[in-house]
Amino acid sequence: MTTPRLDIQKKGGSILGKARLFVALLAFAALAGCGKAEEEVPVLSAEQLQQLQTRSESYSGMDVAQLQTDAEAQILAQELFVAHCARCHGPDGSGGRGLSKAQKLVTGVFNYGSSEEAIRTTITEGRHSLMPALGATLGEVELGAMVAYVRGISTGEAPGTFDATAKEQFAEFCVKCHGLDARGNPAIGSADLTDGYWQHGNSMMNVRLTITRGVDAQCPAQAGIITAAEIELLVSRVLQLRK
Ligand code: HEC
Ligand code: HEC
Repeated sequence: MTTPRLDIQKKGGSILGKARLFVALLAFAALAGCGKAEEEVPVLSAEQLQQLQTRSESYSGMDVAQLQTDAEAQILAQELFVAHCARCHGPDGSGGRGLSKAQKLVTGVFNYGSSEEAIRTTITEGRHSLMPALGATLGEVELGAMVAYVRGISTGEAPGTFDATAKEQFAEFCVKCHGLDARGNPAIGSADLTDGYWQHGNSMMNVRLTITRGVDAQCPAQAGIITAAEIELLVSRVLQLRK
């Protein structure tokens, strides 16, 4: 007989209930705040964004190399980065924040290439990377061997030590995108699996998840949202963020 009790609670306890909910929400907010090591990313008003755009105009025509060495330009470029990029990449480019799966820009290791030109295209046109979910294709037992194989490649383990099936399956299902040498293909943004940098994590669990779930990651296009001058400043900033 739980129904009457529920009724009584609903009627008699509505204020108390709301108060409880409020306290619970406060506690949750406090906990979420405490657990957050990440810096807050401010959201700018339309007017503030306009001001950034106006200030950026004075740098139009300057090339990226010049912008990189101009202290004032870099201050502005960082403000632009916080305004347009930080919510996914973090204010200092050290994210993937949250669920964005974004690249850690401080590594300077980019799937579509790390040249000035490649970065300009990334920012202007955006990037959308897709890897199919391949767990079922490989099979449950084989998946474990593939995880070991892929992690082994990046540590330069001798190829002879690898599971023969994993090697065969890699050739059959992975080489077309990641290449015979597993170094990836910048034309489709498939990751270099040998470089020791793991955008999606290198634990056994993470690599397993990447292969079973596949990847669908997107960096939004900025063309039409920000100006050419702002894009050049951001290209210079991304190059400067490399550590
Ligand atoms: C909505 C989230 C989001 C925002 C905002 C965002 N990015 Fe990205 N960015 C991503 C994701 C996700 C990836 C990884 C895409 C992939 O794996 O192919 C990425 C990848 C990149 C890369 C590396 C691409 C490569 O070759 O691997 C660069 C450089 C980059 N972003 C720069 C920027 C800059 C500069 C801005 C601001 C103008 C920005 N991003 C804004 C999510 C975002
Ligand atoms: C259709 C093309 C395609 C195929 C086939 C493919 N991949 Fe990928 N893979 C990609 C792309 C694109 C990325 C980069 C995703 C991103 O930008 O976040 C990627 C990323 C990865 C990553 C993550 C690397 C990191 O830095 O965290 C792993 C691991 C991986 N692939 C393993 C494999 C394995 C193993 C196979 C075969 C079983 C395979 N891939 C087949 C396109 C492919």
